[in-house]
Amino acid sequence: MAQRQAWGSKLGFVLAASGSAIGLGNIVFFGANAYKYGGGAFYVPYLIALAVVGIPVLMLEFGIGHSRQKALPGALRDMVGAPGEFVGWWALMNSGIISLYYVTLLGWVLGMLIGAFGPLWKDVHPTPAYAMEELPNPVGYFFDTLSQPSSLVNVAIVWLLTVLICSKGTKTIEAAVKFFVPAMWLMMIVLIVRGLTLDGGWDGVMYLFNPDFSAMGEAEVWQGAFSQICFSLSLGFGLMSAYASYLPKDANTNNFAAQTALLNCSFEYVAGFAIFSMLFAFAIVPTASTLSMTFLVLPQGIAALPAGVQVFGILFFLLLLFAGLSSAISLVEGVCSAVIDKWHVSRKLVLTCAFGIGFLGSMMFALPQVIDPTLSGDGTLGLTLLDLFDNKAFGYGLLLAVVAQCVLVAWVYGIKRFVRERNGGREPTLFDKGFMVLVGGVIPVALLYVLASQAWSEFSSGVYGFKFVDPAVIGGEGEWAWLAAAVPLVWLGGTVGLALMLTLIKGRPAPEGVDRKQEALP
Ligand code: TRP
Repeated sequence: MAQRQAWGSKLGFVLAASGSAIGLGNIVFFGANAYKYGGGAFYVPYLIALAVVGIPVLMLEFGIGHSRQKALPGALRDMVGAPGEFVGWWALMNSGIISLYYVTLLGWVLGMLIGAFGPLWKDVHPTPAYAMEELPNPVGYFFDTLSQPSSLVNVAIVWLLTVLICSKGTKTIEAAVKFFVPAMWLMMIVLIVRGLTLDGGWDGVMYLFNPDFSAMGEAEVWQGAFSQICFSLSLGFGLMSAYASYLPKDANTNNFAAQTALLNCSFEYVAGFAIFSMLFAFAIVPTASTLSMTFLVLPQGIAALPAGVQVFGILFFLLLLFAGLSSAISLVEGVCSAVIDKWHVSRKLVLTCAFGIGFLGSMMFALPQVIDPTLSGDGTLGLTLLDLFDNKAFGYGLLLAVVAQCVLVAWVYGIKRFVRERNGGREPTLFDKGFMVLVGGVIPVALLYVLASQAWSEFSSGVYGFKFVDPAVIGGEGEWAWLAAAVPLVWLGGTVGLALMLTLIKGRPAPEGVDRKQEALP
């Protein structure tokens, strides 16, 4: 095996990291969260979450991978031993689950993108046997796509693209993000200009900025802000460390963290301009589900544009696809780099396995709608399974992984030691001291509080805690009740079991001649 990879340039790294960060989260979930938590009421908690949790944890994750020049499991093992390695694998397994449904969503995005060239906007189209009737296009088209076997092919295509982009590691990833990230900004700017120039478009933007301080007293708003920041910045996924491990020894990871966070969150906020201007211009009120906003509400807005419907539709779905792909590759790279660090197997083998496992796993979320097309029309979009896994892997897993990393580095390894090492032996500055207080105390306490209150409110609401799933559908008596009970066990048992296994299997020594030295970046 050749020498460890390295980024070709600083720009390449920042683009790759921001490509990982900018994803469906920035466009789909941010808009939905901001709407759900009251528009202007959201941005103060959001900015606080960014400063208090987002940037420091990104600095931590970059620092861990960079300091040991290894992906998260190996780096944490070097720092604190086997429990660290376990946490690293666990984070990767948890985000692995997220990527299974993330890629399913991207497969649907691909289906909509294909439709956007024509059929999506047509008045009449073949309709499947869904329960709701008289659906306006593109809603009907979406349900139709979902239930066609071709949606499975689309999911396969997205997985294939993802592993192909990782085929030569940093080299191919860098080439891809150099195209994806600028293209994403460009498409987003076009959509914003279109949104803002619509009659009433500005009202939507005002909604985003009109603060409502009364909502800030609610724990739920804070929980929403913390999870949004973690998901959006790819924190707790266990993959930002892998990206930073490809940096040269003298890189300043704190600066990179600040740049990545800035790029990601500015993209997120301006994405809000495009989305809210359209929602307000066409007086469309998004319904509860986050996904319906992407697949149903916004396409309807686009369909109502006075001109260029096709062009804007294609832009929108292409943007989603690029954003999602540049995130999905970071997961594959995170796993790939961790496996190669430990067992020194070939990249080809890891990528082939990733494709197989990924595709089969994504089928779990894509197949039900194909088998039973009425699922998608029963008002839940047939997304119960996705919601259930999302609640665990996204709602709990990411934050838990962040807490675990903070505690291990701050309390087991020693936060002062970590900072001193990062500074090349110098004593901590005032800025470093702030970082130490946050990572060593504020962040774990705040996140644990949020997690506990979330668990409590779900537990006390009864229905196995799945308050967002209609109890009539999945509740105590429903035909799928066992599923609601099984998902948390499958999630926890699966991720913990796999992570334990990966930790316990012995690694293999690097073959002769592996050169870890990396050149300074241009
Ligand atoms: N940060 C991404 C977003 O905002 C999410 C993400 C990053 C992701 N890496 C991922 C999702 C890997 C799934 C798999 O959308």
